[in-house]
Amino acid sequence: MHRAVNQMANTNLTNAKAVKNDEFYTQYYDIEREVEAYLDYNPDVFRGKTVLLPCDDPEWSNFTKYFAQNFERLGLKKLISTSYAINRKQERYGVQLSLFETEFETLSPKYDKRNTRSHGKIFVLDRDDNGDRRIDINDLKWDYLKGDGDFRSKEVTRLRDEADIIVTNPPFSLFREFFAWIVSAGKSFLMIGNINAITYKEIFPFVRKSKIWLGATGFMTDMVFGVPKGTAVKPSDRAKAERLGFKGDFTRLGNSCWFTNLDHGRRHQPLELMTVEDSKRYSRHKQIAGHGYDRYDNYSAIEVPFTDAIPSDYYGVMGVPITFLDKHCLEQFEIVGATESEGRGFSEGLWHEESGVSQPLINGNRVYKRIFIRKKQ
Ligand SMILES: C[S@@+](CC[C@H](N)C(=O)[O-])C[C@H]1O[C@@H](n2cnc3c(N)ncnc32)[C@H](O)[C@@H]1O
Repeated sequence: MHRAVNQMANTNLTNAKAVKNDEFYTQYYDIEREVEAYLDYNPDVFRGKTVLLPCDDPEWSNFTKYFAQNFERLGLKKLISTSYAINRKQERYGVQLSLFETEFETLSPKYDKRNTRSHGKIFVLDRDDNGDRRIDINDLKWDYLKGDGDFRSKEVTRLRDEADIIVTNPPFSLFREFFAWIVSAGKSFLMIGNINAITYKEIFPFVRKSKIWLGATGFMTDMVFGVPKGTAVKPSDRAKAERLGFKGDFTRLGNSCWFTNLDHGRRHQPLELMTVEDSKRYSRHKQIAGHGYDRYDNYSAIEVPFTDAIPSDYYGVMGVPITFLDKHCLEQFEIVGATESEGRGFSEGLWHEESGVSQPLINGNRVYKRIFIRKKQ
């Protein structure tokens, strides 16, 4: 099993350009770095818990590998990992994906030539099966799911209900649905998404009420993802992945980040900030030094174009870049609103519960995406 999980599936895309932005495979180090941050904050966060990894490819996914290898250290009760049927991926992405079977499957007595393409798979780890007195990746048991492994299916939804914590990098094109699927069941979760999703109208209310937040990996930290063999990758992204040591079928996704409702230490570290007066005098940003803060034409708030320029002693509403959320300390600021974003770049409308204003303006000019915050007293 170990060897099989290590071995990336032999995937052949005959129409790589048609791949939607859903087939991105997370790197082990990115998962490890993120999960370890929760363990630093609370070593028992996973203890006695059932963890579900849906939308995975457990034969070779790094999520399955990380949680299986660390099963005992994390104190897990049970690990469940599921995959989506290859035929469904193919229909969805309009590409020919062949030979997704790995050695572990084809050599297994359970191997079924028909099921391998039309069914999802389930991997379960909950005890020492091979008698080596350890519970680890070598004890994973697998089977075909009854259905295709769609997270919305009754079968996977039942697994969701059984789980305490759901961890994955879900298909981004179904991000809203996936998010609703988790929060409607009141589950703890850790998942990768695009930072722009923060201001989706289905997501932002949870951010504002501090029911969900960004994960521990800093937003400026590059995450590299594997892509199916032959996928067309933008040369600049390929070059960035290569600079980080990933050669071949890899890309870097600039806007990816973790979303979670598990607590971690960075959320409780206040930003060190200057007063309004000191910022006017000493700010390293020329927009602020000698000038101070602009006010919006149509909204009662000041514009703070950089997170490190947030004044420490201003108690009104402030518009800050979305990347502020990366540094948001729960005890220091409350979130009161955001410009709406549907991932199109500039904000198209101000979405704020207390305001009917369509978009924030300064001297008649539209302002880039903003989160509105207020200092806690
Ligand atoms: C971003 S990839 C991540 C894969 C893996 N979790 C990882 O991080 O390495 C999302 C995966 O979800 C699969 N997927 C797409 N639609 C799905 C659905 N409705 N239900 C379950 N999985 C789906 C895709 O085929 C893809 O393999």
